[in-house]
Amino acid sequence: MTPEFWHQRWQRGEIGWHSETINRHLAEYWPVLGGPAGERVLVPLCGKSLDMLWLAARGHRVLGVELSPIAVAAFFAENGLRPQVTDLAPAPFERWAVDELELLAGDFSALSPAILRGADGAGIDAVYDRASLIALPPALRPAYASHLASLLRATGGGSTPKVSLLITLDYEQARMQGPPFAVSEAEVRALFEADFRIDVAADVDVLEEHPGFRARGLDQLREHVYRLELRSSVPAET
Ligand SMILES: C[S@@+](CC[C@H](N)C(=O)[O-])C[C@H]1O[C@@H](n2cnc3c(N)ncnc32)[C@H](O)[C@@H]1O
Repeated sequence: MTPEFWHQRWQRGEIGWHSETINRHLAEYWPVLGGPAGERVLVPLCGKSLDMLWLAARGHRVLGVELSPIAVAAFFAENGLRPQVTDLAPAPFERWAVDELELLAGDFSALSPAILRGADGAGIDAVYDRASLIALPPALRPAYASHLASLLRATGGGSTPKVSLLITLDYEQARMQGPPFAVSEAEVRALFEADFRIDVAADVDVLEEHPGFRARGLDQLREHVYRLELRSSVPAET
């Protein structure tokens, strides 16, 4: 999946992953598994997800990162928000921000601890990943997972555990081309276990909710919700 692939999807409005409702697993599990209000939550590969509004309404500072400037502009415009836009050059990001909502338009892989901290030095305390890991083909997932962990470590603070929510899909990959890609629990463990303690919060059959995927050949589709708690023992990135 090249950046061009995603830019074209946004240009053509082919954004079938986007939901006009708040993710039900976020609403159900974040209050139980997530961190307290006030924490700054990173939403990588955020699209124009309304889940960011939900997190902000719960008192979180939200930092979304999205490749497509079309998506970033749409997020603010469609929600009646008038952001301040700042070019962060020489960093390859544009920052769009209003109140507790901040989106960086640019490539997540280029996000460094320094850019993430911004002018006020704030780190991140948690990650919310819905349809982000599973947007990536297998070869890109290890770098994504270790980048997330190192950003959390490098910008951490405080004594509260850093708890993140990860929502994935799993199905027989041979039956359908991604994205979304199938990511099994075994792969999630292989990708994240060195840095995170992993609990499965939910494992649900969601095929009936996605008739389009049945039409594309799936006869099984499971959605997994993971609670990831950052381990304290791995050395921090500088
Ligand atoms: C499947 S969508 C999911 C969006 C969002 N998480 C949601 O739930 O609606 C994946 C998004 O990741 C963005 N994206 C892909 N690669 C990216 C990258 N390297 N850096 C930042 N965003 C990226 C795409 O433009 C797309 O909006």
